Amino acid sequence: MLIMSIESTCDETAVAITENGRKVLTDQIFSQADLHSVYGGVVPEIASRSHVEVISQLAERAVAAAGITKKDLDAVAVSYAPGLIGAVLVGVNFAKSVALSLGIPLIPVHHIKGHIAANYIAFPELEPPFLCLAISGGNTMLVDVRGYTDMKIVGATRDDAAGECFDKTARVLGLPYPGGKHVDELSKTGNDKKYTLPHSHIEGSPYDMSFSGLKTAVVNIVHNAEQKNEALDRESLCASFSRAVSESLVPRTIALSRELGYKKIAVAGGVAANSRIREDFRIAAEKEGAELFIPPLSLCGDNAAMIGCQGYYEYLAGIRAGSDLNAYANMEL
Ligand code: KG4
Repeated sequence: MLIMSIESTCDETAVAITENGRKVLTDQIFSQADLHSVYGGVVPEIASRSHVEVISQLAERAVAAAGITKKDLDAVAVSYAPGLIGAVLVGVNFAKSVALSLGIPLIPVHHIKGHIAANYIAFPELEPPFLCLAISGGNTMLVDVRGYTDMKIVGATRDDAAGECFDKTARVLGLPYPGGKHVDELSKTGNDKKYTLPHSHIEGSPYDMSFSGLKTAVVNIVHNAEQKNEALDRESLCASFSRAVSESLVPRTIALSRELGYKKIAVAGGVAANSRIREDFRIAAEKEGAELFIPPLSLCGDNAAMIGCQGYYEYLAGIRAGSDLNAYANMEL
């Protein structure tokens, strides 16, 4: 089954062609990062306009790169929530027009379910059930993946997402947007014990998290140093920060997997590209005797192949949308 899939929830426009879920024929991605970097963050209006400008060409290019014709397509899948509403609308409307003009089914896909499905592409042997930590720019959640389409959030951030926290830290340090990878890079030469940073604990909800206190602590350290004209050890601040984020995520995930009786742990989303988090998970999973699944960097960030993969399983579960499909800024899993 050939699916054209579309992703436009934030600042990447992507169109992929996948076969039977897990085989990626092509994944065309246009990153808008350069358009937003001058503003230090994503400007929703600019994001929507840029999606409109490139989406048709990307789709044409995807069909050519896959070596197929439009008539070979069996369905179109689209990431319809959550995301920047104007941006998501562009993808949803484009997908509707593809479905209508080719007379093929339209499959709505939750963006975070797509991130989780990136693991199916990277690891052909992976099947539910398993526990997945989904960490991206807008979401941080622990998901009990009971089946391909049957998922339950067991823990989540109460405020900022982990990625947002990386981006704010980068911003206050004057690093370019998107900042996560720059913080990651700097932290490699820093001392992760130099700065003492807070770790959140939410009374009565051991699997929920909070990152806003950590973010504020970093901002205060930077501002204090500026006000006192003191030199800041940026590398060590990045390393201490990355350690604090990782220590919020990794032990919680391992403890929850133990509680749920899972020996399979997956990680997904843009922040899963972080080297400290990957390494800490590797060590912790090995100690726990659990199998660990983290996609390669190319499948951690937003892409359309993951939407096509999840779209396939949604299709098998009978999920379809009509031409009244809407886009949503927020949506439960
Ligand atoms: O999944 P994603 O591409 O978009 C969303 O769906 O949100 O995630 C983007 C987030 C950004 O916050 C970005 O700074 C972060 O992932 N990120 C990283 C790294 N690479 C990307 N954060 C930490 N370390 C990295 N190496």
